[in-house]
Amino acid sequence: LARVARSRDFDGVRVVVSAGGTREPLDPVRFLGNRSSGRQGIALAEAARDRGADVTLVAANLDVQPPQGMRVVPASTASELREIMHAESRDAGVVIMAAAVADYRPDTVSEGKIKKEDRGDTLQLTLVRNPDILRGLVEARANNQIIVGFAAETERNPDAFLDLGRAKVRRKGSDLLVLNRVGWTEGFATSGNEVVVLDTRGDIVGEASGSKRDVADRILDAIIRRQR
Ligand code: CTP
Ligand code: CA
Repeated sequence: LARVARSRDFDGVRVVVSAGGTREPLDPVRFLGNRSSGRQGIALAEAARDRGADVTLVAANLDVQPPQGMRVVPASTASELREIMHAESRDAGVVIMAAAVADYRPDTVSEGKIKKEDRGDTLQLTLVRNPDILRGLVEARANNQIIVGFAAETERNPDAFLDLGRAKVRRKGSDLLVLNRVGWTEGFATSGNEVVVLDTRGDIVGEASGSKRDVADRILDAIIRRQR
C-alpha cells in the first residue's frame, strides 16, 4: 500500500543506474573481478521504474536476469562502463553509480592464454589505475542533475565508518552517497542490506535497512527530497 500511495513521484524522470561489477581481462579466458551481484542496483532500477521513471540499467556482469520494463545496456570493463555512463547520462535527471568498478586493470591483456610453462612458479601482474567514473560524471554534470554514488566499506567502528563515507563523498563531489558495510559475509549476494545516505557535505539524510527493494525505495525518497 505504501508503494501505491507514493506511486508515481518519478513520473517523467530519466534515471540511469549502473549495477553489477566490472571485469578486467587478463587474457581471453580470465579476468579480475569483484563480488558485486548487482542486486542493490537492480532493486533501485525496479523501484524507480515502479515509481514512474524512464529507466536505463547499465548492466556490468550481473549475477541475475535484468528486469523488464527498462532499457538495459551491457558494459563489462571499467572503460566501457565509463563511456556508456557518459553517453546515457547526458539527458538524465538522476544518475546512480551502484556498480562496483575495478580500481585497477592489468596493464597489458595477453593476446593468447597465459601459460604456466612460460611463467614458472610465480606470476607477477602489473595493474594500472582505472579512471574514476563517478568523479568524471560529477565534472560533466548537467544543470539540476542528481548524481548518487555508493561506498562499500569494511570498517567496523561506526564513527570511523561514517568518517570514511564523509571523506569519500567530499572527494567524489556527488550529491548523495549511499554508504554500506560489507565483509566476507555481509552485503554481497544477500537479499537484505543496511545503508546510511549522506549528502555532499557529509550530513546523514537517510537511513534504511531491510530488503534491497525497501532500501532502494528509501534511497529514492532521499533523491526526491533533494530535487525539491
Ligand atoms: N567508482 C567509479 N569509478 C571508479 C571507482 C569507483 O565510478 N574507478 C564509483 C563507484 O561506482 C561508487 C563510488 O565510486 O559509486 C565509490 O566507490 P568505492 O570503491 O567505494 O570508492 P573508491 O574511490 O574507489 O575508493 P576505495 O579506495 O575505498 O575503493
Ligand atoms: Ca574502489
